Amino acid sequence: MKDASPIQPTAKYRKDYAAPSYTITSVDLRFNLHETATQVIATSQLKALGCDDTLELQGEQLVLKGITVNGSQWSDYEEKEGALILSNLPTEFELVITTETNPKANTALEGLYMSGGAFCTQCEAEGFRRITYFLDRPDVLAKYTTTVEADKAAFPFLLSNGNKIAQGDTSNGRHWVTWQDPHPKPSYLFALVAGDFDQLVDTFTTRSGNQVALEIFVDKGNLSRAEHAMLSLKNSMKWDEERFGLEYDLDIYMIVAVDFFNMGAMENKGLNVFNSKFVLADQDSATDADYLGIEAVIGHEYFHNWTGNRVTCRDWFQLSLKEGLTVFRDQEFSSDLGSRAVNRVNNVSVIRGPQFAEDASPMSHPIRPEKVIEMNNFYTVTVYEKGSEVIRMIHTLLGESKFQAGIKLYFERHDGTAATCDDFVAAMQDASGVDLSQFKLWYSQSGTPIVTVKDHFDEQAQTYSLTIAQHTPETATQKDKQPLHIPFDIELYDDKGDVVPLIINEKQQPSLLQLTQASHTFVFENIKHKPTPSLLREFTAPVKLEYDYTEAQLVLLMKCATNEVARWDATQSLMGLYIKQMVESGQTVALSDKVLEALRSILTDKQADKALIAEALLPPPYNEVSGWYEQVDVDAILTALDALRLDIATNLEPQLKAVYLSLSAQQYDISHQSMARRKLRNVCLRYLSRTGNYDEEIKAQFESSDNMTDSSGALIAANTETVSVREQLMQAFSDKWSDNGLVMDKWFVLQGQYPSIQALDKVKAALDHSAFSMQNPNRVRNLIGGFIGNPYAFHAKDGSGYRFTGEMLAKLNESNPQVASRLIDPLLKFARYDDQRKALMKKELETLRGNPNLARDLFEKVEAALK
Ligand code: TRP
Ligand code: ZN
Repeated sequence: MKDASPIQPTAKYRKDYAAPSYTITSVDLRFNLHETATQVIATSQLKALGCDDTLELQGEQLVLKGITVNGSQWSDYEEKEGALILSNLPTEFELVITTETNPKANTALEGLYMSGGAFCTQCEAEGFRRITYFLDRPDVLAKYTTTVEADKAAFPFLLSNGNKIAQGDTSNGRHWVTWQDPHPKPSYLFALVAGDFDQLVDTFTTRSGNQVALEIFVDKGNLSRAEHAMLSLKNSMKWDEERFGLEYDLDIYMIVAVDFFNMGAMENKGLNVFNSKFVLADQDSATDADYLGIEAVIGHEYFHNWTGNRVTCRDWFQLSLKEGLTVFRDQEFSSDLGSRAVNRVNNVSVIRGPQFAEDASPMSHPIRPEKVIEMNNFYTVTVYEKGSEVIRMIHTLLGESKFQAGIKLYFERHDGTAATCDDFVAAMQDASGVDLSQFKLWYSQSGTPIVTVKDHFDEQAQTYSLTIAQHTPETATQKDKQPLHIPFDIELYDDKGDVVPLIINEKQQPSLLQLTQASHTFVFENIKHKPTPSLLREFTAPVKLEYDYTEAQLVLLMKCATNEVARWDATQSLMGLYIKQMVESGQTVALSDKVLEALRSILTDKQADKALIAEALLPPPYNEVSGWYEQVDVDAILTALDALRLDIATNLEPQLKAVYLSLSAQQYDISHQSMARRKLRNVCLRYLSRTGNYDEEIKAQFESSDNMTDSSGALIAANTETVSVREQLMQAFSDKWSDNGLVMDKWFVLQGQYPSIQALDKVKAALDHSAFSMQNPNRVRNLIGGFIGNPYAFHAKDGSGYRFTGEMLAKLNESNPQVASRLIDPLLKFARYDDQRKALMKKELETLRGNPNLARDLFEKVEAALK
């Protein structure tokens, strides 16, 4: 479903922010739910904010049934594309608008729609306007009362935000419930759910003694799969009290799991709606990664209650105000409960892979965008994950206690209001006394800064100098760049791997350097021999580091760096040296004995966290490596990565096998230690599979596994041309799980990611699988998204991958533009490929541009790419 007339979408600019002419103080919503025609009566109390007496309300795909102002029919209005404009209004009035929508026909999953047999809503960012005509903008905070009426047998649960205040039965087997939310909120936090569910209930007592009812609603039969979500919710509530001093503020917290959902989850006040992927888990059907994902997303949505709901965003350009901060909070939550180093490594990989790639794409934007056509396009790794890195840098510069003082001041100033990123930084600066004026550039400047380090050891003077220069290359929409305030943590090591103190002017320096200029030179004194620098420790800033490490230096850091993330990073850089050599020479370069020896000692290290060992053994993925080059040679990179992995597999085979066997399955639990064992075990199996001699072990693991991590680990290891049991195992998996779409996603993504051009045939066949549905975003993301992220097949020289992608995007453009838009990104980067591929990719974009029904989501990206 799309907007009726194909008018050219227009852009909005951050600089044009203006308050609305009226505000809405309270709204009473009445929903008469029917699958194909739901009536919504919205009664709002409005108040003028200035002397303008016209009011422009947003609305899309609504059938207008009636308008009254202060009880009388109102005819002084105009209905336009996407808007309802009322004129000559009083300064204070009651507005009643009656509209009708069709939830069943709503495949875009925005506004009111059906998921399975249930009604549900998704209003962020601008979906409330598909429910009623409204001031659908985050700076209008109203109190909501919501009455939901529906058939009682089919929809026994009728849910909305806040507290249940009344209920009753009507004639014809229908019933109704009224909910009242005492906290004023913007429309994007509204939610409604009606359906039949199993309900997991628990309670949490806040530290000031309030009893909160916790309720998780899942599809019938799934109750036992909601336990981990409930545990994660209680852990989140406790953690936010302990680390941030923040308590929950309603008597009830509800979570509903739905199968049809465009994103991960949504923080609607008191009534979160979740993609079932981030609620449902048990030993048989969920991997350890799924368990950790549930913990992170439950935490994320819960933490939004303060950072997002209590203080919301003035306008959507400020999205990172809530998202960057809330991602930072969920990362800290996962790090406090699990392994800090492993979490950091995973977060760093997201920045260096997808985020750096976004910075280098036509859609590059700062964490606070300046120009938006379709807001849904800006729920990005830049706004979220780079946004979190920006908060983390503030945390690094201020330290925990000043950071918490800043948070406290932020809530003192802005609780119950809609705020800006500037407000946040001001609170941090005022509470800490740390000058953040230059730092604020991180909000407005896009692109990835490159930090280049040159060093010099002066034997005579016994000094070691580091010259550190920064430079941000221009991005698609921003030419001029200024130096940023960059926290840059370092350490120096001597030949034995011992830390060398950092002394300048006879004074010991902290390990955190602060870069504010285009170039700095730091001269460290009392240095006896040329040291090895450990640079950008803990990835203290989201920048690209350039320093010519020697192999010997990296081997030293791998072994001796005091910081776990730095040891992992050294291993990544070392593999990077080989990958670059291979890509540049077009030839295989074998790992040296020293490197192999270092990898062996990491693999067999008895002390280290096994999850971290597993991370360290894996080379940087294709999406990260391709970002190192302005012109991407797909074939050379894939060949280099395959050669490197085979080299490791072949040379470490005895150790990989021994470690694999030593980690054989034990009593299943989800302790971090057990998860780490399974992770390393499966990384070993995957390496071993490359030698072609471990089909039996793969099959044996698959058949004897009592948990999804090991079953899917075996399938992942089998997912290559050289493993003969692949088809057999995939068939067995499909036979077992074909009625569980969520589990089948693990199978769909492997078809999409099959590392060969054969993936296209596998994906086309899987489109006909009984568990696949083009209407379900999870299925689409795994199968089609898996394929688009598979460079072997997506970048097939004959263009077959691009053509298939173009066809799928055209289909999704009709049914669900938001999902289509999330898949298109690799195609936008055509300019970085060889002429043949470039032309083929561009052709697909041009075909899309010629589509007269192109949705705003794809329009914005296609235009940016072809400009
Ligand atoms: N605020 C949600 C989150 O970060 C994001 C979200 C959920 C969303 N569903 C959406 C954003 C739909 C846009 C459209 O947790
Ligand atoms: Zn969020």
